[in-house]
Amino acid sequence: GEMTGTTESGTETSGDGGSSMPNKVVIGSDIPYRPFEFETAAGELKGFDVEIARAVFDEELGITSEFKKTSFDTIIPSLKQGNFRVIMSAMTINEERAKEVDFSEPYFTAYQTVIVRTDSDIQSKDGLKGTTVGVQKGTTGLAAAEGLKEEFGGDLELKEYDQITGAFDALTNGQVDAVINDNTVNAEFVNNQDGARFLEGEGAAAEQGEDAPPYLTLTVENYGIAFRQDDDEFREQVNEALAAIRESGTYDDIYGNYFSG
Ligand code: ARG
Repeated sequence: GEMTGTTESGTETSGDGGSSMPNKVVIGSDIPYRPFEFETAAGELKGFDVEIARAVFDEELGITSEFKKTSFDTIIPSLKQGNFRVIMSAMTINEERAKEVDFSEPYFTAYQTVIVRTDSDIQSKDGLKGTTVGVQKGTTGLAAAEGLKEEFGGDLELKEYDQITGAFDALTNGQVDAVINDNTVNAEFVNNQDGARFLEGEGAAAEQGEDAPPYLTLTVENYGIAFRQDDDEFREQVNEALAAIRESGTYDDIYGNYFSG
C-alpha cells in the first residue's frame, strides 16, 4: 500500500510496490536488445537504457537501480505481478499498453524498419509481398508486420521469435526473408554483420514531418518507462529526473555514446 511521508531511507527495498520512493528500483528488461540493453563479452551490462537508468535513478533520485532479465512477451503481466518496479526495455508507448501500464514522458524516438540480406531481390515495401518476415514476439515490430500482412491481403508469412537475436539469426540463415524491428537496433545488426541492409523508401517518418532517416520507416514511435497504474508519485519523480538530465546535458552525453549525428 501507499505510504505517506516516505523518504529515500524508507524500508522498501524490493522491486515490488510499496513506498512511493523506494531506495532500490528493480527494472524489468528483455536483454539483449543492442544498443539499448546488452551484455559485453565480460558480462557487463551496458546500453542506452542502462545508462539513462543510472542517470535517472541512481544519480538524480539517489536510488540504486538494478536490471532484471525477463521475456519481452510477458513483461507487462510480470510488472503487474510485482516482479519489478518499472519496465525499461526500449518499450514503445502505445494505446494498447497504456490500458495496462502508465508511461513516463517519452525518452527516445524510434521507427519500425525492414532489413533484408544484402544479396536479396527485395527492393521495396511491395517486394515483401509473398515473403516471410521475422519479428520479436509481443513487439510493435510484430504489429507493423501484421499491418503489412493485411495490406497484402494476407500474403505475408510471419515468424515470431522470443528474442530479436533469434529473428536476426533466421535472416542470416535464410529462414526468413526480412526482419521488421526498431531502426537503431536493426542498424546495429546491419553495421556489425555485413550481410544485411535496410529497405529504402520514404515512409511514416517523412509523412509526419520528422527528421526522416535514409530508409523506409513503417511507423514513428516513442519509448517510455512503464509503471504500474498505482505508482503515480514515483512516476512523477522519474519524469522530473528525466527532465533534469535533459537540462543538464547528461541525456545528450549518453545519446552521443550510442548514436552519432
Ligand atoms: N520498441 C519495440 C516495442 O516496444 C521493441 C522493444 C523490444 N525491447 C527489448 N528490449 N527486447 O515493442
